[in-house]
Amino acid sequence: TTRILTGITTTGTPHLGNYAGAIRPAIVASRASDVDSFYFLADYHALIKCDDPARIQRSRLEIAATWLACGLDTDKATFYRQSDIPEIPELTWLLTCVSAKGLLNRAHAYKASVDKNLENGEDPDAGVTMGLYSYPVLMAADILMFNAHKVPVGRDQIQHVEMARDIGQRFNHLFGAGREFFTLPEAVIEEEVATLPGLDGRKMSKSYDNTIPLFGSAKQLKDAIARIVTDSRAPGEPKDPDNSHLFTLYQAFATPAQLAEFRAELLAGLAWGEAKQRLFQLLDNELGEARERYHALIERPTDLEDILLAGAAKARKIATPFLNELREAVGLRSFR
Ligand code: TYM
Repeated sequence: TTRILTGITTTGTPHLGNYAGAIRPAIVASRASDVDSFYFLADYHALIKCDDPARIQRSRLEIAATWLACGLDTDKATFYRQSDIPEIPELTWLLTCVSAKGLLNRAHAYKASVDKNLENGEDPDAGVTMGLYSYPVLMAADILMFNAHKVPVGRDQIQHVEMARDIGQRFNHLFGAGREFFTLPEAVIEEEVATLPGLDGRKMSKSYDNTIPLFGSAKQLKDAIARIVTDSRAPGEPKDPDNSHLFTLYQAFATPAQLAEFRAELLAGLAWGEAKQRLFQLLDNELGEARERYHALIERPTDLEDILLAGAAKARKIATPFLNELREAVGLRSFR
């Protein structure tokens, strides 16, 4: 069996990019008979980017409800909160001790902060916490704890999965004594949606304020779509689908037949207003039922709590004995 694992950081409201890039492919993959899947709320990762407790708590609830509304079968998949698995921060420390500082110096998120500071003439590490710096080690612990083979993610996360490989390999080499403790994971990218564009054409991201919320009301969905930036071609003028992020968004949700038809219509001069209406219909059809389930779930936090605690118990059945083996391997063995 193949083990698949992925997580979402609980700092905001899920958007279409999270859905198309991570949640949808993960749920589809979890249904295969020869697959064991591990999906979780990366709520320790959230603390790195956010010091607003109310926001983190709300986001945990929203993201939990999202996975379930989108059809995750928690009898088959293991679904949990990172912060309910104390073995993960413990493994993070074991891995921190074998992670090269030079490796972490190259992590995108850290480098981006340093570059920005240098541009502004500030100390390179101004505002950089140890949490941000060690972010990839915590993520490596998430992945290696369950010996995941495949990690479905958007393109922005590939580097982190590669770092998890490096760190896992280093640990195997130092402490394995012929045994491969850790499986080396591979990132899995859905080519079509590896980077879903946002309203302005840049990557859809909370930090750019260009997102389309996954489960906003039909009205919010319509309003967001109305803000998609298009070129100035008039109604009747042929549009260029290959240079339109509205088309790219459509593509991430359409069947091949729907896509071919939309392309033909754009080439034939469909007005942008009409094109937006088509995108709205497509998304509303795909998301409408899940949206209702989502709103029902979010009203039942205690049920969500039960589901997540059951998931954590299932995950710890694997994590607890495995961590014990790892502790022994590094020299932390009982004297008895
Ligand atoms: P996060 O929370 O930023 O994003 C969650 C997932 O959504 C994908 N994604 C996108 N995909 C396509 N187009 C977009 N515009 C878009 N925006 C976001 C991300 O690539 C990601 O797959 N560090 C991770 C969370 C994490 C994790 C892990 C993932 C923690 N531990 C272990 C995998 C395995 C993160 O911050 O993702």
